[in-house]
Amino acid sequence: MKLARRLQAIKPSPTLALNSRAKALAAQGVDVVVLAAGEPDFDTPDYVKQAAVDAIRAGFTKYTATNGIPELREAVCRKLERDNGLRFTPEQVLVTSGGKQALYNFCQAVLDEGDEVLIFAPYWVSYPDMVHLAGATPVIVPTREEDGFAPDPDAIRRALTPRTRAVIINSPGNPTGAVYSRAALQGIADVLRPHDCFIVTDDIYEKLLYTDERLGISDVAPDLVPRLVVINALSKSHAMTGWRMGYVAGPRPLIAAMQLVQDQSTSNASSIGQKAALAALNGPPDTVTAMAKEYHARRDFFVAGLNALDGIKCRLPEGAFYALADVRGLYGRSFKGKPVTGSMQLSEILLDEFRVAAVPGDPFGAEGYIRMSFATSRAVLEKGLVRLGELVKALT
Ligand SMILES: Cc1ncc(COP(=O)(O)O)c(C=O)c1O
Repeated sequence: MKLARRLQAIKPSPTLALNSRAKALAAQGVDVVVLAAGEPDFDTPDYVKQAAVDAIRAGFTKYTATNGIPELREAVCRKLERDNGLRFTPEQVLVTSGGKQALYNFCQAVLDEGDEVLIFAPYWVSYPDMVHLAGATPVIVPTREEDGFAPDPDAIRRALTPRTRAVIINSPGNPTGAVYSRAALQGIADVLRPHDCFIVTDDIYEKLLYTDERLGISDVAPDLVPRLVVINALSKSHAMTGWRMGYVAGPRPLIAAMQLVQDQSTSNASSIGQKAALAALNGPPDTVTAMAKEYHARRDFFVAGLNALDGIKCRLPEGAFYALADVRGLYGRSFKGKPVTGSMQLSEILLDEFRVAAVPGDPFGAEGYIRMSFATSRAVLEKGLVRLGELVKALT
């Protein structure tokens, strides 16, 4: 069977693959500790569910405009002004089926073959593949844990070329949980200022914060707002991963082009989901802060537990719900006579022998690390730590 050439560069999502393996094991009755998922374990707030029920009962079940219902786009504008100090008009907003579709539409609308997008590693696995799907080239800029996983401006400068069409910023980031400091954002802004490219900010984890301050690039460089593309979703903040509700705001001609992509692919995001998203955006902030508070406590407990294990080191993430643990201290030790040499192998041993699903760092551009989500109960995290301890003990 002949398939499209551009698919040859695409890898299946390792997180989804690992999750389905873990789920298959669990379905067979195996007691698996799943730390691989990128989703909240909380339920969607009741007021959000109610808005969806009301929408169904009221027969709000038909096509809407592709870019979304006006009241939702207005609510997005209010949110962006309130939380991010950004002023957009509803014409500059496109409602999408999750943050993923917003990013995908962006790539399809902007990138031609040969174009380049700068991505800071460690990165969310889908960024490079979405760029590939548009026929363009992801250019990976490594960052260092010692720098809080923030990119070195000189490294960005070296990676920029006349073909660079966009740079993606993700703070708090997946998989690092890193929140960029003012100085880091300033460094990025200064190096990008003379270069005519879009600045995409993926703010999906902005509400899951364990530090006092989280700034966006627009806070340090308001002059760059005309080429800013803000991507967000209700998935993580409101525990709405399955609802597939996201949005993007940016320059009017770009949003129009992205809408065209959506017009000819999926049309509007679910009408019912839009009503739910509206309720979420207009809803009380305390449900979100309560979830963030619980993640905060879990983070402290889980990361301390990881750091107590010989050979594992974990930086305290300032946001999101991932612990990115440095496992290089385990490399070179042997499991059943075979030396451990990489994160893929370690994740396999963890799942097959210790029944812990943790994602290898390699597909995130973070070889030497494994990513574990603490968006799960403390009891599960505790069990995970016990099993990780058993792995460490079993290595010789
Ligand atoms: C950094 C980042 N951006 C975007 C997304 C996509 O989110 P959604 O489920 O809203 O499509 C994810 C999901 O894991 C993510 O981690």
